[in-house]
Amino acid sequence: MLRSSHPLDELAITQNLKTRYLGRKISITSECTSTNDIVKSSADNGAPHGFVAISETQSAGRGRLGKSWFSPAGGIWLSILLKPRGRQPFLDSLPLLGALAIAEAVSSQLRLKACVRWPNDVVVDDRKIGGALAEAKSKGNELAYAILGLGINANFSEDKIGASANATTLRSLQGAPIDRAALICRVLLEEENLYELLCAGMVEKLVSLVRELDCSRGRNVRVKLHNREPLGMFDDYETLGRVRILTRQGSKPIDTTTVLSVEYQSN
Ligand code: BTN
Repeated sequence: MLRSSHPLDELAITQNLKTRYLGRKISITSECTSTNDIVKSSADNGAPHGFVAISETQSAGRGRLGKSWFSPAGGIWLSILLKPRGRQPFLDSLPLLGALAIAEAVSSQLRLKACVRWPNDVVVDDRKIGGALAEAKSKGNELAYAILGLGINANFSEDKIGASANATTLRSLQGAPIDRAALICRVLLEEENLYELLCAGMVEKLVSLVRELDCSRGRNVRVKLHNREPLGMFDDYETLGRVRILTRQGSKPIDTTTVLSVEYQSN
């Protein structure tokens, strides 16, 4: 049951989609536990590479590191099925590229200054409007498939989120509802382009695209790892899955997969 937003129109998505394969097979539901769960069961039943599941609400939306993800009606909650090509070690890069696709789509479609905050946040004026989460299924030592889940706080009021989260919604920023179908089409196109670069091994190009929309560099940050908690200034991306933090003890490389949590401090 939808309350606060026009339901998503499947035709408005399929007729405006400019991708080659992302979203060419699509499922839109009104409720689910998590769109990642829909993609997982669809993948296990033979869904193709690029299959996209979208839901108006999620009752058990997942964020990074086991956190729950608030997913009321009016948001954009979608997951993409990606079947690996060759032996690209791509899983570690997917959340960052997912965040970049959202930031690029929001910036160009809505003329808001959205940026990527490492490792997977999309923020406007330092307030979170979206994020990305990758999950995977392996087959022996190989990756069977990856699921990239993207969440965007779109057409609901920021009052629903709670002040402590330091998050907002596109509707609250714009003062009016946004065209969710158009934004979804743009996000999928951006994501497909980034994914193609990744499969082509163009990591340096991707890192430079991330740098263009990054707003982590120069920020003071505390990173929680299993055995230590470096505190310092976010310096730069070494590659898609590794960054450098400048601490008092010198420059420390950090692999994104080892991160338990990240806390940005006001500079
Ligand atoms: C984060 O910033 O912690 C990542 C949030 C990812 C949320 C999306 S919403 C669609 C997909 N389904 C989920 O359960 N999670 C992702």
